[in-house]
Formats: sequence, structure tokens, C-alpha cells
Amino acid sequence: MQEKFYITTPIYYPSNKFTLGNCYTTVICDAVARFNRKQGKDVFYLTGTDEHGQKISQSAAKVGKTEMEYLNDIVDDAKKLWNLLGISYDKFIRTTDEYHVSAVQKIFRELYDKGYIYKGHYKGLYCTPCEAFWTESQLIDGKCPDCGREVAPQEEEAYFFKLSAFTDKLLKLYKDNPEFLQPQTRVNEMVNNFLKPGLEDLCVTRTSVKWGVPVDFDPKHTIYVWIDALSNYITALGYKSIDESLFKKFWPADVHIIGKEIVRFHAIIWPALLMALDIPLPKRVFGHGWMLFGGDKLSKSKTVGSVECIDPRVLVPRYSADAVRYILLREIPFGSDGNYTTEIFFNRFNSDLSNNYGNLVSRTFSMLKKYFASVVPEFKDDNLEASKILKDVVKNETEKVFEYMKNFDVSKSLMSIFNIFSQANKYIEMTEPWALAKDESKKQTLANVMRNLLETIRIGASLLQPFLPECATKTLRALNVGENKTYENITEFYGLKAGDVVQPLGILFPRLDIEAEFEALKNL
Ligand code: MSP
Repeated sequence: MQEKFYITTPIYYPSNKFTLGNCYTTVICDAVARFNRKQGKDVFYLTGTDEHGQKISQSAAKVGKTEMEYLNDIVDDAKKLWNLLGISYDKFIRTTDEYHVSAVQKIFRELYDKGYIYKGHYKGLYCTPCEAFWTESQLIDGKCPDCGREVAPQEEEAYFFKLSAFTDKLLKLYKDNPEFLQPQTRVNEMVNNFLKPGLEDLCVTRTSVKWGVPVDFDPKHTIYVWIDALSNYITALGYKSIDESLFKKFWPADVHIIGKEIVRFHAIIWPALLMALDIPLPKRVFGHGWMLFGGDKLSKSKTVGSVECIDPRVLVPRYSADAVRYILLREIPFGSDGNYTTEIFFNRFNSDLSNNYGNLVSRTFSMLKKYFASVVPEFKDDNLEASKILKDVVKNETEKVFEYMKNFDVSKSLMSIFNIFSQANKYIEMTEPWALAKDESKKQTLANVMRNLLETIRIGASLLQPFLPECATKTLRALNVGENKTYENITEFYGLKAGDVVQPLGILFPRLDIEAEFEALKNL
């Protein structure tokens, strides 16, 4: 039976300010989803938007729109951005979708009926103009962190989820299942900071928030944030709808990939909710680090000496979706934070994409045209030491990619793939095809060298395809390799057909004149 693979991004807060950082989780998940598809799995990749809360009403009012008008515009823009970046999601959920709202109400009622939700009083520090509760630690200089005004203690009737009842069960989960949350440092954080001191019950409704899912049996209460948002991972599959077939097929999720600041919600609250509902837990939760801009997570587009442009809608049309995906996937060591600057982006573009990959493909294709009229040559008795080294590198690095991808390590996987291209470039220097071409008696050696290069490009491009789909697919098409071919037997050096004509391929990544690019960005 075909293996299933269910992967999710967090659902995004709708915002007009799209930065590279916002795209980080989604691009990683896309690479992982595509990689698993190429392994022949039946993949379901979910993303979407988290559309409730007081802030939405306030933002909509500011621009004179209703909540839904405001949200629809942003969701359209978000979908355009995902298309621009080649995000291959299978479903886009909006928490305002009717099926989600109705399922969340049923989930809430079930938790209430089972005794996991009870009515009590929420005490907090309230900011009247913002209509928001804050905790002591969220205040800035004792004032509202949003508007800077005074806050006052206030109490309101609210429902609570008995999170405290799950402390021991969650400690057991972490003990029995060390794979559940990754990287390991995040487990220590959860266990030492939250579980060992004991969990407190969680307030799950507000009467002061109107834009949200009402409790159906007590509608002055609005279901607050986490039950609504986290449930998307199951309601998107039809949980508690008339058709639960996708839920039966794909749940439990293979992985929720999320940013480190929301690990607690996914690694404590979410498993507790699922336990209360008697639903199996996701297999893994991965909390990645942040992409930092001058040390800041949420940097606005700013000028620091040179131009720092972090708007993907400017970068993609100018440098390609692949280049933007590359910098997101490659530059941040997976699981840790990493820094972004435009200069790093330009340098990686030139050194890795243009010089290493692009150059390898264009040199090989033009030599093939010159020496073999672009026809894939036949192999025979290849006993060059350089060929053996090349094949070993291809095999080892490919195996590493498969290992790394088991842990979603996209950055290391790309390093391995680019090691393959570097070795192929070295192979050209070692074998000097231009010298072989001058000697009629070396015709077969030249054929072997060219065939090895083509096979290496085929393997490298197949491995690269989930990460940089555009340029890799173009390369595979030029080699007449089916672009949907899976990874079965990938390292066999006989994937191409002798006699096939390789199609011409333009320059994949024209080298950037870095100074001129900085100038151009300044004037955009
Ligand atoms: N709505 C919640 C998630 C609910 S999931 C049930 C939320 N949304 S968010 O829009 O604020 O963040 C969405 C994702 O984007 C998070 O995984 C977050 O870590 C990620 N990123 C936003 N800026 C980022 C960087 N600068 N770097 C890396 N990822 C960051 O949280």
C-alpha cells in the first residue's frame, strides 16, 4: 500500500506585511512535501490562515472594511505569494470556513461533555481601548504593549480547559517518545519550564472578543485562540464533518513544522487536547529557528548602509522563486536561527546557483553539443579513477540527503546536493574533455566522461527538484527525464537513454553584478 505523509505549516495571522521570515516555514514544508512525493508517498500538505481575534476587527475597521472584506483581500494576496514561490499545498484552510467553525463548536462541546472544560472566571489586566487582556509579563513598562495606555485588573466569566490534568501524561509522552518533539533542546525547555512545575488550566473563551467562533450552547462566549487555531490540523481533514474520509486516511500527521515561539502550544496544549478527544497524537512536532534580519525577527524593510529588501514579492520576480527558496532553505542551519542580508543572498546566488550549478549544466550541455551533437553517448569500459571518485561522491551524498530529510534537515540536504555539483565541476577539471576531444583514440573516454556528467546532473537535478523546482524541472526536461519520476533507483548511472537528444537550455542563473544590483534595488 502507498505510504501516506501528512505535513502542516502553522496557519498564518493575516497580515499585509509579507517578509521572507513569513515564508520560511511554508517553503521548508513545501520542500519536505515535494521530497516525500518524489519518494512515491501519498502526500497531503496543509497550510492556511488564522483569522479570528480582536486584532482582525480593529485592523478591518481602520481601513473601513468589514472583517470578511479585509480578510478576503489578504488571503488572496497570501495565495498569490504562495503561487509565486511555487508552494504545492494540497489544501488551504481558513478558520472562517464554515466547516471549520462548525467542527470547532463540536470539539468544544465534546470536551465540555467529557468534563475537560468547565466554567470559571478569568482575571487579567485589561486595556479598554484595545479590548484586550494582558498578563503582567506581557506589559511594557506596566502599560498595554499595543497602545501604551494604562491597564486595569478585570474579571470576566470564561470557560477553562483542564490542562492541569495532563501534566503526568505529557511527561510520560516525552519519556516514552523522545522523537515526538525536535530538536531535542526544545524538549528540555518544555519539560523543565512547563511540565515539571505543573501545568495550569487554560482559559479557552472570552466574552470581550466578538470576532471568533461562538460557543454554540452559550453564545456570549467566543472560543479563544488555541482551540480554534490548533483544531485546523484535523478539521481540514473533515474531522467532525459529514465526510471524515481524509481524516481517517491521513491522521495522525507525520509532522507539524512550526516556529520555535509556538512550540509550547503544539507540544503541550495540542497533545493534551488530542488526548482529551481520544485522538492519536501527531508523530512529530519540529520547532525551527528564526530567520533574523540584523538580529531582529520581525524586521521591517530597512536600509542599513546598503539596501535590505526582504519583501519576497520584490525579490521573486527579479531573482526567481528558486533563488529565494534557496536562501531560505540553505542559509539557516535547520533548527537554529540564521541571519539574512541582501549581500548574503547575492553572494550565495553567484557562488552556488550561478557558478556551481548553473555553470556545470551550461558547460556540460555546450560540450555535449560540440563533441556529440547533443546526443547522449553510450558508456563503455569506464575505468578512470576520476569517474570512480565522482560516482562514490554521488552515491554518498545522495544517501546523506535521504538521511537528512528523515529529520527535515533541508539545509544540510542542500549542502550535500551542491557537493555533488562541486565534484562534477572538479571532474571536468580532472578529465579535461577539451583535451580528450583532440585525440581520436580517446573518443570513448570522452563519451564516458560526458555520460558521467549527464548522469550526475540528472541525479543532482532530481534531488534538487523539491527544493528548487523551477530550475531542476527545466534541467530534467532538457535531459528527457520525466519530471514526476520518483527516487527509485536514483543513483543508477544508467538513468538516461543513449541516443536521446539533450534539449538546449538557456542560462539558469545569470551571474549578478552585485554593485549594480544594490543600485537597482535602491531605485525600485
Ligand atoms: N497563527 C499562529 C499559528 C497557529 S498554528 C495552529 C502564528 N502565526 S504567525 O503568522 O505569527 O506565524 C506563522 C509562522 O511563521 C510561525 O511558524 C512563525 O515562526 C513563522 N515566522 C514568522 N516570522 C519568522 C521569521 N522571521 N523566521 C522564521 N519563521 C518566522 O503564529
